[in-house]
Amino acid sequence: MEIIPGSIPQSKFHGYLLGSVAPRPIALVSTVDSEGNVNVSPYSFFNVFSSNPPIAIFSPARRGRDNTTKHTLENVREVKECVINVVNYNMVQQTSLSSSEYAKGVNEFVKAGFTEQSSKTVSVPGVKEAPVKLECRVKEIIELGSEGGAGNLVICEVLLLNINDDVINENGHVDPNLMQLVGRMGGAWYNKAYGEALFQVEKPGIVPGIGIDNIPVDIRNSTILTGNDLGVLGNVKQIPDETEVNEYKLIELSDLFVEYEDDANGLELKIHELAKQLIKSNKVEEAWKALLTFNN
Ligand SMILES: Cc1cc2nc3c(=O)[nH]c(=O)nc-3n(C[C@H](O)[C@H](O)[C@H](O)COP(=O)(O)O)c2cc1C
Repeated sequence: MEIIPGSIPQSKFHGYLLGSVAPRPIALVSTVDSEGNVNVSPYSFFNVFSSNPPIAIFSPARRGRDNTTKHTLENVREVKECVINVVNYNMVQQTSLSSSEYAKGVNEFVKAGFTEQSSKTVSVPGVKEAPVKLECRVKEIIELGSEGGAGNLVICEVLLLNINDDVINENGHVDPNLMQLVGRMGGAWYNKAYGEALFQVEKPGIVPGIGIDNIPVDIRNSTILTGNDLGVLGNVKQIPDETEVNEYKLIELSDLFVEYEDDANGLELKIHELAKQLIKSNKVEEAWKALLTFNN
């Protein structure tokens, strides 16, 4: 399917775009208007873009339905402050409720049952229930268009990052399993960013890995190894030398080589399956040695 923007109704295009670019973090943004009326609403067109200076951006869009603007946008134009509250699983239903289109001046803290908590650096209250609050000064607002669906980038400088102690683990890090953040997908879908959903990927070091282009072509074209497996193999700084490979072959794989003496294809498949298991068990050097026994 290929979609040229403008060729289908805006609401449909919006659906495809949001289903494709996901999951998105959720900013539950509190603001006040010039009369001091408090507002809180969720925005998943949101992220951080810089840590020095610390900059977060969220985007209240013009409504596709009638091209009107959101109260949050009107408020940050009047009072250039906000608090970005992160959303965990325990807050998700109330957060959704706070996205209801209540009339201007209605305080969604009250409607959604959230608790106002005074901020240290801005006049806007934060959401007490949120595990992290970013107290912000609104630096700039950039309009991305004038039609329904057009975003407005609200560029925020973080003045204070307020993290609940109970989401910090014994190593002093923010722990995703303690935070229990949720993200927004397309339609009515959300996702949990903790528990079974989590996995780690070893960061490439300062010295770059050899790259998939330097993996011997027979290994690269394996029917067993996936793109993820090749990504792990390509992240090593150097591959084992011939002596190490021969030693590995002798100690670990001599039985296999005898068994498949007359079946080179079968042997290659077996070795690739073994390498896949070794990669899964985080034994990447052994996986390389096993693979190179066949290429030797
Ligand atoms: C999880 C979630 C994320 C949302 N993200 C956005 C967004 O990024 N941009 C937007 O314009 N509306 C978004 N909305 C819809 C607004 O929250 C909704 O229009 C709300 O009524 C705006 O409130 P306000 O007019 O008080 O600012 C989102 C709603 C939910 C539930």
